[in-house]
Amino acid sequence: MHTYRAHPDVSVLSDYLEVPGLGFLPVNAFVIHAREPVVVDTGLGLPDRDFLAALAEVIDPADVRWIWLTHPDRDHTGGLFPLLDAAPQARVVTTFLGAGIMSCEHPLPLDRVYLVNPGQVLDAGDRQLTGFRPPLFDNPATVGIFDSSTGICLSSDCFGAPLPTAELASAHSAAALDKSDMRAGQLLWANVDSPWVQNVDTAKFAASFQPLRDFAPAAVLSTHLPPIAGDISAPVATLLDAPHADPFVGPDQAVLEAMLREFSPRGAPDEEKMPGARAGRP
Ligand SMILES: [Fe+2]
Ligand SMILES: [Fe+2]
Repeated sequence: MHTYRAHPDVSVLSDYLEVPGLGFLPVNAFVIHAREPVVVDTGLGLPDRDFLAALAEVIDPADVRWIWLTHPDRDHTGGLFPLLDAAPQARVVTTFLGAGIMSCEHPLPLDRVYLVNPGQVLDAGDRQLTGFRPPLFDNPATVGIFDSSTGICLSSDCFGAPLPTAELASAHSAAALDKSDMRAGQLLWANVDSPWVQNVDTAKFAASFQPLRDFAPAAVLSTHLPPIAGDISAPVATLLDAPHADPFVGPDQAVLEAMLREFSPRGAPDEEKMPGARAGRP
């Protein structure tokens, strides 16, 4: 992980995940340095990640007042419970569904939950943060954030893209990306993360971008893309094409076995670890 400022008021906690066959997926969390500081998402929960240590590079975790989970997927909740311990004044901003989904594994203490639905506002002391439903999402609890004081929009999974290299996934600006790589990655991600986009009424889908258009954001910060500064018409046009792009079909067992043969020093899957690998054989 590394940290940088995308704006004087917004730090990015930048990470990435290598996804076999897809590329390098940025995994960003953010800090809005409001009078009541807001951490937006809490990164991956992998054993070698230390979200609190990365956060401490940009703010004393004890000062955090709000932990806004854009949605409770595991690439967004990794540092949540250590942060709740380290930030005794902090409350988790989520939705009723978000709190419910968390309760299936590790319930949130309800006295530390604060519910914000799309269209509602969180007062962070010196600014109003408006929740909205991004046009693409993979979890019914998803809420994006618009900060009218900076013009910055945090779009959760929407606008994401797996990228060709770790360096690009760690870039501080989407301007570093080749335009065709970015478009291809966004079309792929839209169909990986939101496969329902193949089934939409395209007029209604286009209308779902209206909150974004109304915000006219100065920058869009996705959890899965380097920051987009300035004009977002090209990435919006890309997402409007997502219903017509190829649907994503994941690797099947034959592909997995071929991958394992490549990785295994014996040239064959490790059947003790992969007992199912035997099932398809004669
Ligand atoms: Fe997600
Ligand atoms: Fe995500």
